[in-house]
Amino acid sequence: MSETKKAPARPVVLGNWKMNGLRADGLKLAGELAERAARLTGTLGVFPPATLLAGVASRLAGTGIVVGGQDAHFEEGGAFTGSISPAMLKDAGAGAVILGHSERRHGLGEDDALVQKKAAASLKAGLLVTLCIGETEAEYDAGRTIEVLERQVAGSLPARATAANLVVAYEPVWAIGTGRTPSTDKIGTVHARLRAMLEERLEDGADMALLYGGSVKPGNAAEIMALPNVDGVLIGGACLEAESFWRIYTAGGGA
Ligand code: 13P
Repeated sequence: MSETKKAPARPVVLGNWKMNGLRADGLKLAGELAERAARLTGTLGVFPPATLLAGVASRLAGTGIVVGGQDAHFEEGGAFTGSISPAMLKDAGAGAVILGHSERRHGLGEDDALVQKKAAASLKAGLLVTLCIGETEAEYDAGRTIEVLERQVAGSLPARATAANLVVAYEPVWAIGTGRTPSTDKIGTVHARLRAMLEERLEDGADMALLYGGSVKPGNAAEIMALPNVDGVLIGGACLEAESFWRIYTAGGGA
């Protein structure tokens, strides 16, 4: 990605489909989003399973909706059974990738060093990286949220990160898929600390999009996105239905 590119337009509303969607459902959802996206004022992105990337990307071509993968390997190619390289994501029509999601960090044992390697390779390939970080419930209860986030930012943010090529998503692990969210006060406090961390590390850290994720729904999206330092949201369950995904997007000022 060229260094002169700008940070993604606000609000940045991204939908992580996770391991959901067969071909018919995925293409239907993409079609319903395409109908709504006549004029996008912010950034709207979908991250379908790898099997649907090419189909969804071709359905959404010309709409301005970003399409991305949910993971990428750090190598360009070779003997890595089951893995997909950043170049392959691009070749399938993706312009972005989610890395470091808690379902991969905690579910599959990915650590900061691995996430950082994947992020560096994805930036090199020209993908917009969404780097996910977040504390577990035990870490939250122990008051260790900021310490954990500091460690994850230090360990997984790649050297070439800029506001134009990377977005940070704060997703408390205990808020994902549970219907529970931190209070808006807590989200605001964490995002202010994250902003300070990014400003300290990066020349353009003030411009880097900072997203919140974890049980975002049409009913809580507006108050979350109205918080200072919350530039958008990363959505799981509520993005699988076009109307609720779109309502979240418009709640953040996008249309
Ligand atoms: P939910 O919106 O289902 O809580 O999932 C959030 C998430 O993990 C997005 O990456």
